[in-house]
Amino acid sequence: MTTEPVNIYEYETIAKERMTLPEYDFVAGGAADEITLRRTRAAFDSIMLRPRMLVDVEHRDLSTRVLGQRIEFPIMADPSGGHGRAHPEGELATARAAGAMGTVMVLSSGSTYTMEEVAEAATGPIWFQQYLFQDRGLTTLMAQRAQEAGYCALCITLDSSIRAKRERNIRNNYTGQPSPNYAGSVALAECWWNLSSDAPRGVNELINRAATWSELDWLAANTPLPLLVKGIMTGEDARLCAEHGVKALIVSNHGARQLDTTFATIEVLPEVVAAVDGQVEVYMDGGIRRGTDVLKALALGARAVLIGRPLFWGLAADGEAGVRAVLEMLRDELDISMGMCGRSTIDSIDIGLLGTVSPLASVLEQPRDIRLPRL
Ligand SMILES: Cc1cc2nc3c(=O)[nH]c(=O)nc-3n(C[C@H](O)[C@H](O)[C@H](O)COP(=O)(O)O)c2cc1C
Repeated sequence: MTTEPVNIYEYETIAKERMTLPEYDFVAGGAADEITLRRTRAAFDSIMLRPRMLVDVEHRDLSTRVLGQRIEFPIMADPSGGHGRAHPEGELATARAAGAMGTVMVLSSGSTYTMEEVAEAATGPIWFQQYLFQDRGLTTLMAQRAQEAGYCALCITLDSSIRAKRERNIRNNYTGQPSPNYAGSVALAECWWNLSSDAPRGVNELINRAATWSELDWLAANTPLPLLVKGIMTGEDARLCAEHGVKALIVSNHGARQLDTTFATIEVLPEVVAAVDGQVEVYMDGGIRRGTDVLKALALGARAVLIGRPLFWGLAADGEAGVRAVLEMLRDELDISMGMCGRSTIDSIDIGLLGTVSPLASVLEQPRDIRLPRL
C-alpha cells in the first residue's frame, strides 16, 4: 500500500495536518457562506463526459500556446499571495516546479519573496500579477520592475478592490503578512503599515476603487508588457476586454474568495468565450482538482486553466517536489481522460464531449403508459 497521495484531495489532507488552522483556513476558505465555493465543485461534477471510440490516440500532445508562449500542457500556476505560509521556500519553489514542468507561473504581487528573487529562481516563463493602484506611480513602478526582472506579461486582477468578508479569517483573527514587493512604497507605508491602525488592512486599501476601463488603456500605454485581466465573470465585461486591447483574460471569481453567490466559473465560461469571439485568449480558474476538470474547461472554450490552492497543498506536502507532483498529477489525469475520450491534441477537444442532462431524462419524462419496444 502506498502512503503517497494519489490525488489532489489527499495533498490537501496532508497540508491541513501540517499548516496551522488559521493558515489552512485562509487558503482553503471562501467568502461568506461559501456557496460559490461548493457550487464550483458541484458544477464540475454535474458535467458528464461522452467518450468517443476508435480514434487514433496512440500519440497524445498536450502542449499549447498562451500569449505566444509554448507550454507543455494547458495548466498554469495562478497568482496567489504568500506561498511562504505553506513552505519556507514559497514562490521560489513554485517557480522552479512550474519551470521544470514546462508551464507558466503567474507571480502574485503579494508573494513572500520579491519579484526579483522569484525571477532569479525561475526556470520557465513567468508573468506578474498586480492591481490598478490609487497611486499610478506605484502601478507603473511595479510594472517596470516586473518588466526589468524578466516577466513577460502583466496580469491585472480586477475583482479585489473591495475587501471580502471571509468568515474563517474573522473567526481565527487572521491577518497575514504584507509582501516585500510593496516595501518602500510610500502608499504602503501610509495605508498598510499605518501605525495608528490595529492590524494590517491589506492591499485592498491601495487599489483604485474608482478605476474604470479607461485605466487599462492608460496602463497599456505605459507598459510594453502585454496585459491580461483576471476576474471576468460576464460576457459584457469580456467584450469590454476586447475593446480595451486586453490580450487575454482569466474567467475567475478569485477562487470563490471575494463575492459569494456568483456562478461557478465553469458555468459562465461559454458566455465569455462567445462574447470575445476569438479576439482575446480565454483562460479560467476555480476548483480545478482533476484532469477531467481541465478537459471540461477546454471543451467549453478555455485555452488553458490555472490552479491556486493545489499549489499550497503541494508546497506544504513537499516543497518544490510537491508542486511538481501536483502539476504532474493533473497533467497525467488530463492525458488519460483525453485518450479515453478519443482526443489526442488540445485543439481537438470540443463541446461534443460534454453533456449535463441525463439521457434518461427524456425517456423517463414520457407518459407512464407508453411501453418501449424491446428490441
Ligand atoms: C491563499 C490564496 C491567495 C490568493 N492570492 C491572490 C492574489 O494575490 N492575486 C490574485 O489575483 N489572486 C489570488 N488568489 C486567487 C487565485 O489566483 C485563484 O483565482 C483561485 O485560487 C483559483 O481557485 P482554486 O484555488 O480553486 O484553484 C488567491 C487564492 C488563494 C487560495
